[in-house]
Amino acid sequence: MSLNKTDFGPDFQWGVSTAAYQIEGAYKKRGKGLSIWDVFTQNSANIKDGSNGNKSCNHYKHYKKDIDLLKKLNIPNYRFSISWPRILPSGFGEVNQRGIDFYSRLIDRCLDKGITPWITLYHWDLPNELELKGGWTNRDILNWFAEYTEVAAKNFGDRVKNWLVLNEPATFIGAGYFLGYHAPGKKGINNFLPAMHHANLCQGIGGRILKETVPFCKAGTALSTTQIDSHSASIKDVQAKNRFDVIFNRLFIEPLLGLGYPVKDFDALKKVSQCMLQNDEKHLPFDFDFIGLQNYTREVVKYNPLIPYAKGRIVEAKDRNVECTGMGWEIYPEAIYNMLHKLNAYGKIKEFVVTENGASFPDIKVEKKINDPQRIEFLKAHMEQVLRAKNEGINVTGYFIWTLLDNFEWAEGYTQRFGLVYTNFKNRKRYIKESGYWFAGFLAEKSE
Ligand code: FCB
Repeated sequence: MSLNKTDFGPDFQWGVSTAAYQIEGAYKKRGKGLSIWDVFTQNSANIKDGSNGNKSCNHYKHYKKDIDLLKKLNIPNYRFSISWPRILPSGFGEVNQRGIDFYSRLIDRCLDKGITPWITLYHWDLPNELELKGGWTNRDILNWFAEYTEVAAKNFGDRVKNWLVLNEPATFIGAGYFLGYHAPGKKGINNFLPAMHHANLCQGIGGRILKETVPFCKAGTALSTTQIDSHSASIKDVQAKNRFDVIFNRLFIEPLLGLGYPVKDFDALKKVSQCMLQNDEKHLPFDFDFIGLQNYTREVVKYNPLIPYAKGRIVEAKDRNVECTGMGWEIYPEAIYNMLHKLNAYGKIKEFVVTENGASFPDIKVEKKINDPQRIEFLKAHMEQVLRAKNEGINVTGYFIWTLLDNFEWAEGYTQRFGLVYTNFKNRKRYIKESGYWFAGFLAEKSE
């Protein structure tokens, strides 16, 4: 099947996504406070290659060139995140004007070039000052987050109309406050449950403030989705699959849609009631304009009584003999189609935008060329599945590739290259990969 931009219709929104900590660098420049990732990466044992995002792509310095790259690649929408401690170094209170000015310049540069900016408020870099007070486990986060949202909305809302409140709460809460392999490195159910509940409440808080503060804005939140299959048809495997489905897919959408927490399918969640105040149930739902759906792969789950709470484990793709990306994630394009259907089946989501999809491969630069046919195949196959869902009537209105530039991939450091553009981390030079040229060609196609 040949894929054409026109198949998606003239209003479909194409873009790329990035995140502040992964690309900006300049971690202490011009009044910025430290984030939990600045602190977490100080212990090199936390990151696969012992690296950190102190410099990363130095997008802070090179943002103009990076916006020019977007222009060169015909990319009309750019989703980036704001570093909370760059604009509020202590998390609340005093505003760092130089941080505000940076994002203002970035937004203006986008607009000058005819590129529509999309802001993610929270892509994982909590001000460390707040973490010292308990971070997401402290209920005060509701006020801190409200203040941060207001500062961002008031300063950028005149020019930015597309907003996302959180990026993948299931990931930053699960990996940061239960398993401990992401910042701030906290573990256990007693950290997980309050952090999870507060993040759920913050989705609604952020959404409400955006709608009140930014006239005509479109507000959403970005949720990770992963198709979960059971290893066998045995009841135990199927129940384990259901528990993983709760953790990966249901925990942050169902409260938002007014369905409460899916305690029936996951006993361990019952204790969340201990973190809830009387009116919380009422404040969890929020009617977002759209949901940002993010998908990279599917997982297969097998019952295992030794694993606490989930009582199951993921059967890794490498042990299943399937084709994988550099992350060891199975290449399974139908997952994005199935997840669009799964969330659409709630019957309550008005609009979907695929706010992340992409793949890392061990790209090699030969002379100035980076030939990455696997990425092109990956993207095409996933775009076809998005189109299939759209043609079946699901209101999916956009597709954003993760990501523009190779960058700091969290616990994987610089070992994973997800970009349409190759970054040389020694001198920060950028080189457009073949996939970048391919996407530019695809986007250049004129609608009839
Ligand atoms: C997503 C994150 C993004 C990036 C990609 C590969 O889960 O939102 O920052 O790390 O995975």
